[in-house]
Amino acid sequence: MEPTRIGVTAAAGAYSVIIGAGVIDALPTELEAAGLGPRRIVVSSKRVWPLHGKRFRRAGTERSPVLVDDGERYKIIGTVGKVHDALVKAKADRSTVVIAVGGGVIGDLVGFAAATYLRGIRVVHVPTTLLAQVDSAIGGKTGVNHRLGKNLIGAFHAPSLVVADPIVLDTLPPREYRAGLYEVIKYGVISDPSLLDHLRTNLAAILARAADAVAPMVATSCRIKAAVVSADERESGLRRILNFGHTVGHALEAATGYRRFRHGEAIGYGMLAALRLGVARGVTPPALLDEVQAIITRLGALPPVSGISTKTAIAAMGRDKKVVAGTLHFVAATGRGRTTTLTDVTAAEIRAALKGIGLKA
Ligand SMILES: NC(=O)c1ccc[n+]([C@@H]2O[C@H](COP(=O)([O-])OP(=O)(O)OC[C@H]3O[C@@H](n4cnc5c(N)ncnc54)[C@H](O)[C@@H]3O)[C@@H](O)[C@H]2O)c1
Ligand SMILES: [Zn+2]
Repeated sequence: MEPTRIGVTAAAGAYSVIIGAGVIDALPTELEAAGLGPRRIVVSSKRVWPLHGKRFRRAGTERSPVLVDDGERYKIIGTVGKVHDALVKAKADRSTVVIAVGGGVIGDLVGFAAATYLRGIRVVHVPTTLLAQVDSAIGGKTGVNHRLGKNLIGAFHAPSLVVADPIVLDTLPPREYRAGLYEVIKYGVISDPSLLDHLRTNLAAILARAADAVAPMVATSCRIKAAVVSADERESGLRRILNFGHTVGHALEAATGYRRFRHGEAIGYGMLAALRLGVARGVTPPALLDEVQAIITRLGALPPVSGISTKTAIAAMGRDKKVVAGTLHFVAATGRGRTTTLTDVTAAEIRAALKGIGLKA
């Protein structure tokens, strides 16, 4: 199968996202073709590199990779410092290209390290989780967490190339893989209902991670993210549709200290809440709620929402940094692949939707 190539326009310059089973083997050629070299430094995680490092050996032409601790709790400024240390030690200069190999944590962290080293050197993303392939590797948002909040420290720094190879997803724990699928459902709801059809029809093959079922799903998702961020890199309007399911999702994550849910799982609940709210308002067709509910049910049980009150969740929503000047911009679905932004959603409507997904009053 030929790899899919998608172009992304960014203020700092256009870049390509290349998707296909086996594209990592072609990484040296792709880097060459994109003029990214010859000085390259691979930064990956202590967990991911032992699993997939051998496929990259040819790409890291200069020296051995820099390996950092992996996991959300290491997505902090101290780990960025370690990447900087390695770059200084390697005498990286403005021509050096950093290749980030890992999930969203590694991508965000290494992207930020590249954004800040010498006021910005080029970064290539090789995402290794489904979430990173369909979402975080594209769009140029980089950053780390602060003690007092997620992703509070960051910068826009568009990559120079993104290479997404579904083969690396084979080693992903099932729960991580499923977490990425909720974001795929999101793209189906907000933009391309063929994704919902694909999930419904080919779920067994997708769950078995058959490359011929996964690659087109990743490609379609990337195409949507690429189109949205190309049109609105800095999230002034259109990019907001990517937040479908995220108002409630983020609140559930925050209300449980980011420990109970994988991000995608919280988005699973968040989408159901958003659909319920839309149905109650009369803007969302009930059939869409049923369809998404059915797919989510088939993906398997989500962690329970037990113990989270609507009050706690709504309080967390008020602290969300996506609340613009005190106004909540709530993305609702108006049909398969269509959305609208509601700016007059009341606490009562949100409370009802939260109760609908099982939160206690
Ligand atoms: N920049 C953006 O636009 C954007 C968008 C969405 C999310 N994010 C960020 O992404 C992060 C979440 O990313 P994630 O879901 O990829 O989580 P993650 O990076 O923590 O990866 C999940 C787990 O999978 C492991 N892993 C990664 N690749 C693997 C592989 N191929 N095989 C086996 N194990 C593997 C990791 O070591 C980790 O334990 C969050 O910090 C979030 O803020 C950023
Ligand atoms: Zn998300």
